[in-house]
Amino acid sequence: MHILCIGNSFSGRYLARHFNSVTVSFVSRDPDLLHRQKLRVAQPDRDRYDGILDCVPPLANGDSIEWYSWPVIRSCLERQGTDLPLVHISSTSVFEGCQAVANHISDLPQCDEATPVKPGLRGARRVALETELRRLWPASWIVRSCGLYGPGRNALTLLTKAAPGFLQAEERVVNRIHVHDLLGICLALMSAYGSSWPTAERLLHACDQNPVRNRELLQFLQDTHGRHLQALSTTRLDPEIPAGTTGNAAGPEPGYQGYLVQSCRAERLAVPLRYGSVLDGLGEPLEDLLTET
Ligand SMILES: NC(=O)c1ccc[n+]([C@@H]2O[C@H](COP(=O)([O-])OP(=O)(O)OC[C@H]3O[C@@H](n4cnc5c(N)ncnc54)[C@H](OP(=O)(O)O)[C@@H]3O)[C@@H](O)[C@H]2O)c1
Repeated sequence: MHILCIGNSFSGRYLARHFNSVTVSFVSRDPDLLHRQKLRVAQPDRDRYDGILDCVPPLANGDSIEWYSWPVIRSCLERQGTDLPLVHISSTSVFEGCQAVANHISDLPQCDEATPVKPGLRGARRVALETELRRLWPASWIVRSCGLYGPGRNALTLLTKAAPGFLQAEERVVNRIHVHDLLGICLALMSAYGSSWPTAERLLHACDQNPVRNRELLQFLQDTHGRHLQALSTTRLDPEIPAGTTGNAAGPEPGYQGYLVQSCRAERLAVPLRYGSVLDGLGEPLEDLLTET
């Protein structure tokens, strides 16, 4: 299977290096970097592809958005025909405005593919691009990714870079998706492309099944990797939380904040997730988590 990946992205590199049955060719703003990273440079006017994976985010350009993928996609469609599967990776940040607080996790707002979007500033650009792509190419699949993580890009690597701020809101609940599972979903959609999915339903949420609060994630990292991480890290995990305890167990339990991302279509696609929770994904050996492979 030969995939054209638009953007030298974390996802595309993982696809190229971990899915043996797939050849990946890249379009990038920096072809020299592709060469240095030993990634295949696409030749869209000569190659034949079995699918296109678009990883390029929409960028602000005054009042409009900038997105360099469409001319590449259009020329491939013109050359190869309209059956060429196209998957664009969007983001569940289109629900940023749904955030709420609750006493129990199941009382947080639940957002599936049928839920009306409620974006903040960042998410608004995603919504604009989703709408534009629908208009340009209704047959395309849009996959909304939750917090994407994997080897070399995850909560642990952020901690080693002294960037723990993202975990400070302990009550925040976040759905995540391991890059392996995101790509499994994208490949399955490409295979199912010509099937009977109505075009209006070609939108899928890629999300884990058991989102956790930052509080539980931090505790897990402390318990599982804390000792090793402190040797590597410029930022320590909270030294007040000894391994195996719940930190401020005597204090009141913080509540839950955020929204829950779900999919009402994933079951129909029937792609089993390797990592149902970020706690599974970050339970891998430390050396496998710290560097992108
Ligand atoms: N990381 C997350 O938690 C998360 C969550 C939800 C959705 N997403 C989205 O899912 C898609 C795939 O994620 P990913 O992590 O695999 O992608 P990534 O590593 O962030 O790469 C995105 C690619 O888009 C291209 N690009 C063009 N203009 C850019 C700009 N101004 N800033 C950054 N990149 C630009 C770049 O390719 P070239 O430099 O090769 O042109 C870049 O390599 C992206 O659209 C991402 O934003 C990510």
